[in-house]
Amino acid sequence: MKTPPAPARELPCDAALGKRVLVAGCGYLGRVVARELHMLGWDVTGITRSLPSAQALQEEPFRVLACDIGDRAALAALGSFDAVIACASSGWGDVESYRKVYLEGTQNLLEVLHPEHFIFTGSTSVYAQTDGTVVTEESPAQPARETGQMLRAAEEVTLAAGGTVARLAGIYGPGRWALLSNFLDGNAVLEGDGSRWINQIHRADAASALVFLLSIPPGIYNVSDGTPATQREIYTAFSEHYQRPLPPTGPLNTTRKRGYTHKQVSHAKLRALGWSPMYPSFREALR
Ligand SMILES: NC(=O)c1ccc[n+]([C@@H]2O[C@H](COP(=O)([O-])OP(=O)(O)OC[C@H]3O[C@@H](n4cnc5c(N)ncnc54)[C@H](OP(=O)(O)O)[C@@H]3O)[C@@H](O)[C@H]2O)c1
Repeated sequence: MKTPPAPARELPCDAALGKRVLVAGCGYLGRVVARELHMLGWDVTGITRSLPSAQALQEEPFRVLACDIGDRAALAALGSFDAVIACASSGWGDVESYRKVYLEGTQNLLEVLHPEHFIFTGSTSVYAQTDGTVVTEESPAQPARETGQMLRAAEEVTLAAGGTVARLAGIYGPGRWALLSNFLDGNAVLEGDGSRWINQIHRADAASALVFLLSIPPGIYNVSDGTPATQREIYTAFSEHYQRPLPPTGPLNTTRKRGYTHKQVSHAKLRALGWSPMYPSFREALR
Protein backbone atom coordinates (compact mmCIF):
# COMPACT_ATOMS: atom_id res chain seq x y z
CA MET A 1 0.00 0.00 0.00
CA LYS A 2 1.41 3.40 -0.98
CA THR A 3 1.22 6.30 1.44
CA PRO A 4 0.94 9.74 -0.16
CA PRO A 5 3.22 12.45 1.24
CA ALA A 6 1.84 13.96 4.43
CA PRO A 7 0.39 17.43 3.95
CA ALA A 8 1.87 20.15 6.14
CA ARG A 9 0.12 20.23 9.48
CA GLU A 10 0.08 22.90 12.13
CA LEU A 11 2.35 22.11 15.00
CA PRO A 12 0.21 21.83 18.12
CA CYS A 13 3.06 21.81 20.63
CA ASP A 14 5.03 24.97 20.08
CA ALA A 15 5.98 24.89 23.75
CA ALA A 16 7.72 21.55 23.26
CA LEU A 17 11.27 22.74 22.73
CA GLY A 18 13.63 20.78 24.93
CA LYS A 19 10.86 19.08 26.94
CA ARG A 20 11.47 15.43 27.64
CA VAL A 21 9.03 12.78 26.49
CA LEU A 22 9.14 9.02 26.91
CA VAL A 23 7.41 6.85 24.32
CA ALA A 24 7.00 3.64 26.26
CA GLY A 25 6.56 1.04 23.53
CA CYS A 26 8.25 2.06 20.31
CA GLY A 27 6.48 -0.37 18.00
CA TYR A 28 4.29 0.08 14.92
CA LEU A 29 2.58 3.17 16.33
CA GLY A 30 5.02 4.39 18.99
CA ARG A 31 7.87 4.73 16.52
CA VAL A 32 5.87 7.17 14.39
CA VAL A 33 4.68 9.08 17.46
CA ALA A 34 8.30 9.40 18.59
CA ARG A 35 9.37 10.67 15.17
CA GLU A 36 6.64 13.34 15.16
CA LEU A 37 7.53 14.48 18.65
CA HIS A 38 11.19 14.67 17.71
CA MET A 39 10.31 16.81 14.68
CA LEU A 40 8.30 19.10 16.96
CA GLY A 41 11.33 19.72 19.15
CA TRP A 42 10.71 17.30 21.99
CA ASP A 43 13.69 15.54 23.53
CA VAL A 44 12.47 12.00 22.83
CA THR A 45 13.38 8.70 24.45
CA GLY A 46 11.73 5.58 23.08
CA ILE A 47 11.79 2.21 24.79
CA THR A 48 11.12 -1.34 23.66
CA ARG A 49 11.03 -4.48 25.77
CA SER A 50 13.73 -6.35 23.87
CA LEU A 51 17.22 -5.37 22.85
CA PRO A 52 16.80 -6.52 19.21
CA SER A 53 13.77 -4.23 18.83
CA ALA A 54 15.73 -1.30 20.28
CA GLN A 55 18.71 -2.09 18.06
CA ALA A 56 16.46 -2.14 15.00
CA LEU A 57 15.60 1.50 15.76
CA GLN A 58 19.14 2.80 16.10
CA GLU A 59 18.84 4.77 12.84
CA GLU A 60 16.02 6.85 14.31
CA PRO A 61 16.94 10.44 15.19
CA PHE A 62 15.91 9.91 18.84
CA ARG A 63 17.28 7.76 21.64
CA VAL A 64 15.91 4.20 21.82
CA LEU A 65 16.68 1.86 24.70
CA ALA A 66 15.56 -1.56 25.79
CA CYS A 67 13.69 -1.16 29.08
CA ASP A 68 10.82 -3.24 30.41
CA ILE A 69 7.98 -1.15 31.85
CA GLY A 70 7.54 -3.97 34.33
CA ASP A 71 10.94 -3.15 35.83
CA ARG A 72 10.59 -0.16 38.16
CA ALA A 73 14.30 0.22 38.83
CA ALA A 74 15.06 0.29 35.11
CA LEU A 75 12.35 2.92 34.59
CA ALA A 76 13.73 5.06 37.42
CA ALA A 77 17.17 4.92 35.81
CA LEU A 78 15.77 6.59 32.67
CA GLY A 79 15.51 9.91 34.52
CA SER A 80 12.57 12.30 34.55
CA PHE A 81 10.12 13.19 31.80
CA ASP A 82 7.63 15.99 31.22
CA ALA A 83 5.40 13.63 29.27
CA VAL A 84 4.98 9.88 28.92
CA ILE A 85 3.01 8.13 26.19
CA ALA A 86 2.26 4.52 27.08
CA CYS A 87 2.22 2.81 23.73
CA ALA A 88 3.35 -0.72 24.62
CA SER A 89 1.31 -3.67 23.46
CA SER A 90 0.83 -7.13 24.83
CA GLY A 91 0.69 -8.41 21.27
CA TRP A 92 -2.25 -10.79 21.25
CA GLY A 93 -1.31 -12.28 24.62
CA ASP A 94 -3.56 -13.69 27.32
CA VAL A 95 -5.12 -11.83 30.21
CA GLU A 96 -1.94 -12.09 32.30
CA SER A 97 0.13 -10.36 29.66
CA TYR A 98 -2.60 -7.70 29.44
CA ARG A 99 -2.31 -7.23 33.19
CA LYS A 100 1.47 -6.90 33.03
CA VAL A 101 1.72 -4.58 30.06
CA TYR A 102 -1.38 -2.43 30.34
CA LEU A 103 -2.32 -2.32 34.01
CA GLU A 104 0.96 -2.85 35.86
CA GLY A 105 2.93 -1.07 33.13
CA THR A 106 0.68 1.99 33.48
CA GLN A 107 0.94 1.92 37.27
CA ASN A 108 4.73 1.69 37.07
CA LEU A 109 5.09 4.52 34.57
CA LEU A 110 2.89 6.81 36.66
CA GLU A 111 4.27 5.93 40.07
CA VAL A 112 7.94 5.92 39.10
CA LEU A 113 8.08 8.78 36.61
CA HIS A 114 5.27 11.16 37.80
CA PRO A 115 5.05 12.92 34.42
CA GLU A 116 3.13 16.16 34.00
CA HIS A 117 1.34 14.69 30.96
CA PHE A 118 0.48 11.00 30.69
CA ILE A 119 -1.33 9.33 27.81
CA PHE A 120 -2.53 5.74 27.91
CA THR A 121 -3.02 4.29 24.46
CA GLY A 122 -6.10 2.15 24.85
CA SER A 123 -8.65 0.75 22.50
CA THR A 124 -12.22 1.24 21.31
CA SER A 125 -12.65 -2.47 22.04
CA VAL A 126 -13.70 -1.38 25.55
CA TYR A 127 -17.05 -0.44 24.03
CA ALA A 128 -18.79 -3.80 24.03
CA GLN A 129 -21.87 -2.59 22.17
CA THR A 130 -23.25 -5.05 19.63
CA ASP A 131 -26.30 -3.13 18.41
CA GLY A 132 -24.58 -0.99 15.77
CA THR A 133 -25.19 2.28 17.66
CA VAL A 134 -22.92 5.33 17.71
CA VAL A 135 -20.60 5.35 20.72
CA THR A 136 -19.08 8.49 22.21
CA GLU A 137 -16.79 8.87 25.22
CA GLU A 138 -19.96 9.11 27.33
CA SER A 139 -21.24 5.69 26.22
CA PRO A 140 -20.94 2.70 28.56
CA ALA A 141 -17.55 0.98 28.25
CA GLN A 142 -18.13 -2.39 29.85
CA PRO A 143 -16.09 -5.04 28.07
CA ALA A 144 -17.23 -8.59 28.68
CA ARG A 145 -13.78 -10.16 28.27
CA GLU A 146 -11.10 -10.06 30.93
CA THR A 147 -8.63 -8.62 28.44
CA GLY A 148 -10.94 -5.66 27.85
CA GLN A 149 -11.47 -5.31 31.59
CA MET A 150 -7.72 -5.05 32.02
CA LEU A 151 -7.68 -2.17 29.52
CA ARG A 152 -10.47 -0.47 31.48
CA ALA A 153 -8.53 -0.91 34.71
CA ALA A 154 -5.50 0.76 33.11
CA GLU A 155 -7.78 3.57 31.95
CA GLU A 156 -9.06 4.11 35.49
CA VAL A 157 -5.51 4.27 36.87
CA THR A 158 -4.67 6.83 34.18
CA LEU A 159 -7.72 9.00 34.84
CA ALA A 160 -7.21 8.89 38.61
CA ALA A 161 -3.72 10.30 38.03
CA GLY A 162 -5.07 13.14 35.86
CA GLY A 163 -3.92 11.52 32.63
CA THR A 164 -5.47 11.07 29.22
CA VAL A 165 -6.97 7.91 27.76
CA ALA A 166 -6.84 7.57 23.98
CA ARG A 167 -9.23 4.88 22.77
CA LEU A 168 -7.91 3.84 19.40
CA ALA A 169 -9.84 2.11 16.63
CA GLY A 170 -8.14 -0.63 14.59
CA ILE A 171 -4.82 0.75 13.35
CA TYR A 172 -3.81 0.18 9.74
CA GLY A 173 -1.12 1.62 7.53
CA PRO A 174 2.06 0.80 5.65
CA GLY A 175 3.03 -2.83 6.15
CA ARG A 176 0.10 -3.65 8.44
CA TRP A 177 -3.55 -3.82 7.45
CA ALA A 178 -5.08 -7.05 8.68
CA LEU A 179 -8.33 -6.68 6.73
CA LEU A 180 -6.49 -6.09 3.47
CA SER A 181 -3.90 -8.82 4.05
CA ASN A 182 -6.65 -11.33 4.79
CA PHE A 183 -8.49 -10.24 1.67
CA LEU A 184 -5.40 -10.51 -0.55
CA ASP A 185 -4.35 -13.83 1.01
CA GLY A 186 -7.80 -15.32 0.44
CA ASN A 187 -8.45 -15.69 4.17
CA ALA A 188 -11.19 -13.08 4.47
CA VAL A 189 -14.76 -14.07 5.31
CA LEU A 190 -17.81 -11.86 4.90
CA GLU A 191 -19.50 -12.50 8.23
CA GLY A 192 -23.25 -12.95 8.19
CA ASP A 193 -24.79 -10.30 5.94
CA GLY A 194 -21.59 -8.19 6.18
CA SER A 195 -23.33 -5.39 8.07
CA ARG A 196 -20.97 -5.38 11.06
CA TRP A 197 -19.47 -1.91 11.58
CA ILE A 198 -15.69 -1.66 11.51
CA ASN A 199 -13.82 1.33 12.94
CA GLN A 200 -10.33 2.14 11.75
CA ILE A 201 -7.61 4.76 12.02
CA HIS A 202 -4.57 5.19 9.80
CA ARG A 203 -1.32 4.99 11.73
CA ALA A 204 -0.31 8.52 10.65
CA ASP A 205 -3.57 9.87 12.09
CA ALA A 206 -3.31 7.83 15.29
CA ALA A 207 0.16 9.33 15.78
CA SER A 208 -0.97 12.89 15.08
CA ALA A 209 -3.87 12.43 17.51
CA LEU A 210 -1.58 11.25 20.31
CA VAL A 211 0.68 14.25 19.75
CA PHE A 212 -2.36 16.55 19.69
CA LEU A 213 -3.60 15.08 22.97
CA LEU A 214 -0.52 16.51 24.69
CA SER A 215 -1.88 19.99 24.01
CA ILE A 216 -5.48 19.64 25.23
CA PRO A 217 -7.13 18.98 28.60
CA PRO A 218 -6.84 15.43 29.94
CA GLY A 219 -9.75 13.01 29.69
CA ILE A 220 -11.02 10.22 27.48
CA TYR A 221 -10.82 10.67 23.71
CA ASN A 222 -11.88 8.33 20.92
CA VAL A 223 -9.33 8.19 18.12
CA SER A 224 -10.89 6.88 14.92
CA ASP A 225 -11.16 8.19 11.37
CA GLY A 226 -14.80 9.02 12.09
CA THR A 227 -16.09 7.03 9.12
CA PRO A 228 -17.19 3.61 10.33
CA ALA A 229 -17.71 1.26 7.40
CA THR A 230 -19.47 -2.07 7.22
CA GLN A 231 -17.45 -5.15 6.50
CA ARG A 232 -19.32 -5.46 3.20
CA GLU A 233 -18.44 -1.87 2.22
CA ILE A 234 -14.77 -2.48 2.96
CA TYR A 235 -14.52 -5.77 1.11
CA THR A 236 -16.50 -4.35 -1.80
CA ALA A 237 -14.01 -1.46 -2.04
CA PHE A 238 -11.08 -3.92 -1.92
CA SER A 239 -12.78 -6.10 -4.49
CA GLU A 240 -13.28 -3.20 -6.90
CA HIS A 241 -9.80 -1.81 -6.30
CA TYR A 242 -8.01 -5.13 -6.87
CA GLN A 243 -10.49 -6.53 -9.38
CA ARG A 244 -11.03 -9.64 -7.30
CA PRO A 245 -14.21 -11.38 -6.14
CA LEU A 246 -15.80 -10.65 -2.79
CA PRO A 247 -14.72 -13.06 -0.02
CA PRO A 248 -17.01 -16.00 0.74
CA THR A 249 -19.69 -15.57 3.38
CA GLY A 250 -19.52 -17.30 6.75
CA PRO A 251 -20.83 -17.10 10.31
CA LEU A 252 -20.18 -14.12 12.62
CA ASN A 253 -16.80 -14.42 14.34
CA THR A 254 -17.72 -14.05 18.00
CA THR A 255 -14.40 -15.45 19.28
CA ARG A 256 -12.31 -12.32 18.78
CA LYS A 257 -9.65 -11.77 21.44
CA ARG A 258 -11.15 -8.47 22.52
CA GLY A 259 -14.73 -9.69 22.01
CA TYR A 260 -17.29 -9.35 19.24
CA THR A 261 -18.57 -5.80 18.88
CA HIS A 262 -20.75 -3.93 16.42
CA LYS A 263 -20.76 -0.15 16.93
CA GLN A 264 -19.88 3.13 15.25
CA VAL A 265 -17.17 5.06 17.04
CA SER A 266 -17.57 8.84 17.07
CA HIS A 267 -14.47 11.05 17.15
CA ALA A 268 -16.52 14.26 17.41
CA LYS A 269 -15.03 15.23 20.79
CA LEU A 270 -11.45 15.24 19.50
CA ARG A 271 -12.42 16.84 16.22
CA ALA A 272 -14.24 19.68 17.97
CA LEU A 273 -10.96 20.55 19.69
CA GLY A 274 -9.14 20.97 16.38
CA TRP A 275 -7.73 17.56 15.37
CA SER A 276 -8.67 16.06 12.03
CA PRO A 277 -7.43 12.97 10.21
CA MET A 278 -5.41 13.04 6.99
CA TYR A 279 -7.28 9.89 5.99
CA PRO A 280 -10.96 10.55 6.77
CA SER A 281 -11.76 6.99 5.71
CA PHE A 282 -9.96 3.86 4.53
CA ARG A 283 -10.91 4.77 0.96
CA GLU A 284 -8.35 7.62 0.80
CA ALA A 285 -5.63 5.26 2.02
CA LEU A 286 -6.65 2.60 -0.50
CA ARG A 287 -6.36 5.12 -3.33
N1 LIG B 1 -2.75 -2.30 16.53
C1 LIG B 1 -4.02 -1.94 16.68
O1 LIG B 1 -4.89 -2.13 15.80
C2 LIG B 1 -4.45 -1.23 17.94
C3 LIG B 1 -5.79 -0.88 18.08
C4 LIG B 1 -6.16 -0.20 19.21
C5 LIG B 1 -5.21 0.13 20.16
N2 LIG B 1 -3.92 -0.24 20.01
C6 LIG B 1 -2.96 0.12 21.03
O2 LIG B 1 -1.91 0.90 20.47
C7 LIG B 1 -0.70 0.67 21.20
C8 LIG B 1 0.44 0.39 20.26
O3 LIG B 1 0.14 -0.74 19.47
P1 LIG B 1 1.14 -1.24 18.32
O4 LIG B 1 0.28 -1.92 17.32
O5 LIG B 1 2.01 -0.11 17.88
O6 LIG B 1 2.00 -2.32 19.12
P2 LIG B 1 3.28 -3.13 18.59
O7 LIG B 1 3.60 -2.83 17.18
O8 LIG B 1 3.07 -4.55 18.99
O9 LIG B 1 4.49 -2.53 19.45
C9 LIG B 1 4.53 -2.71 20.83
C10 LIG B 1 5.79 -2.08 21.36
O10 LIG B 1 5.71 -2.16 22.79
C11 LIG B 1 6.95 -2.71 23.27
N3 LIG B 1 6.68 -3.40 24.52
C12 LIG B 1 5.90 -4.47 24.74
N4 LIG B 1 5.95 -4.82 26.03
C13 LIG B 1 6.79 -3.96 26.64
C14 LIG B 1 7.29 -3.83 27.96
N5 LIG B 1 6.90 -4.67 28.93
N6 LIG B 1 8.17 -2.84 28.22
C15 LIG B 1 8.55 -1.98 27.24
N7 LIG B 1 8.12 -2.04 25.98
C16 LIG B 1 7.26 -3.04 25.68
C17 LIG B 1 7.39 -3.65 22.17
O11 LIG B 1 8.77 -3.96 22.31
P3 LIG B 1 9.36 -5.36 21.74
O12 LIG B 1 9.32 -5.26 20.25
O13 LIG B 1 10.73 -5.44 22.27
O14 LIG B 1 8.44 -6.44 22.26
C18 LIG B 1 7.07 -2.78 20.95
O15 LIG B 1 8.07 -1.83 20.77
C19 LIG B 1 -1.01 -0.44 22.19
O16 LIG B 1 -1.35 0.14 23.42
C20 LIG B 1 -2.23 -1.10 21.60
O17 LIG B 1 -3.04 -1.74 22.55
C21 LIG B 1 -3.51 -0.90 18.91
